[in-house]
Amino acid sequence: MCATVWKAIFPRDFTWGVAASAYQIEGAWDEDGKGESIWDRFSHTPGKVMNSDTGNTACDHYHRYAQDVALMKELGVKAYRFSVSWPRVFPKGKGVVNNAGLDFYKRLVDELLQAGIEPWICLHHWDFPQALQNEGGWTNPANVQYFADYAGLLAQELGGDAKRWIIFNEPRCIAWLGYLTGIHAPGEKDMQLAVKVSHHLMLAQGKAIQTLRDSDRNFHVGTVVDLNALRPFSDDQKDEEATDRFDQFWNRWFVDPLFEGAYPQLAEKIGLKPTKDDMELIKQPLDFLGVNYYTRVTISYDDSVLLTRAKEVHKKTPTTEMGWEIYPNGLYEVLMRFRTEYGNPLLYVTENGAAFEDNVTRSGEVQDDDRIAYLRDHIASAYQALRDGVNLKGYFTWTLMDNFEWAEGYSKRFGLVHTDRQTLKRTPKKSFRWYKDIIANNGITF
Ligand code: FCB
Repeated sequence: MCATVWKAIFPRDFTWGVAASAYQIEGAWDEDGKGESIWDRFSHTPGKVMNSDTGNTACDHYHRYAQDVALMKELGVKAYRFSVSWPRVFPKGKGVVNNAGLDFYKRLVDELLQAGIEPWICLHHWDFPQALQNEGGWTNPANVQYFADYAGLLAQELGGDAKRWIIFNEPRCIAWLGYLTGIHAPGEKDMQLAVKVSHHLMLAQGKAIQTLRDSDRNFHVGTVVDLNALRPFSDDQKDEEATDRFDQFWNRWFVDPLFEGAYPQLAEKIGLKPTKDDMELIKQPLDFLGVNYYTRVTISYDDSVLLTRAKEVHKKTPTTEMGWEIYPNGLYEVLMRFRTEYGNPLLYVTENGAAFEDNVTRSGEVQDDDRIAYLRDHIASAYQALRDGVNLKGYFTWTLMDNFEWAEGYSKRFGLVHTDRQTLKRTPKKSFRWYKDIIANNGITF
């Protein structure tokens, strides 16, 4: 008897990649003239990050980047998505440029190109300059221009070789986790501030897109949002309505303005009334949108929660070590939303991955079959979306190597490569070899 073979073979030009970010891997937090970031300040503040972990050394990628690019070459990825540390190139966030910091990114881009890997540069993945935070951070509208200036500098200095640009990583996390729940830097807990920040981020994004385009018409410019799949806790109408409000707040707030030129209704309820000019600046045409997907959340009605009157509840489901529900079909659901609700833009999955407790066996192996299962099922789900007409052009795994997982410190491992916390030795896991085969075969056979 012969088992059914199911194949998910992707289009020839499909981009397979890996993603990472500056603060999570670079280390060298105060080397070669780098300025302080809000994540330096936050992680140096007792009680903010699990086990008092910091990104001071992280994976020491700043010094070991050549080794890391060699690993990526071995993996066979076509693209590497990374971010630039703003305070590494502008120690004060604006004004005087730190050429030594800039040189690091030039070396990295060179190394990638020599390895045949396309650099995808994200301008900002959360490590905001502390000097600008002292002037109010993203609550200060002056940042819109500072950010555009920073974008212009990177375009000028790196744009000869790098053509793929991502403006922000997950603006919702910057605004809602940094300024509302306070679990991320700068650790504020104020709804009004958070809403203000969300709008300034969107304006800054619009202006940075314009700046990049003015600098080179051949740039491919996009931005990255993170969406959760959602389900109401019950079929009670109150839970269903709460789920809709949660969707407006957590998902649509940072997407609707890009495609529809308006915030969802909920924004007005909290007093966000942008001008027509603002919305025009925000609605810049994008060459692509990056979508990060990890999980589904279950929502129930809760009158005590400001604005959304909705809260996340935990149902008993299989989860990753983050406590996030494993729900591969959610990637399909989220991608399909762009086809049905947002005019089918060109998409990349710019992050998807899972944290599990990975132990190195005595023979030096990491048998991370649970990660392989997670990735396999999500890639299959992305394939299904592609089959159903989603304009999906690539998939990036989060992440190359175990690194600093924000408020969780080093306690959560997402990498295809194991990072030893004492020696920083990199050991490719079983999933590394598995993903290598996926790339080599341009898909999966079940
Ligand atoms: C995303 C972040 C990324 C990483 C993963 C696990 O929200 O963009 O830096 O921490 O989660």
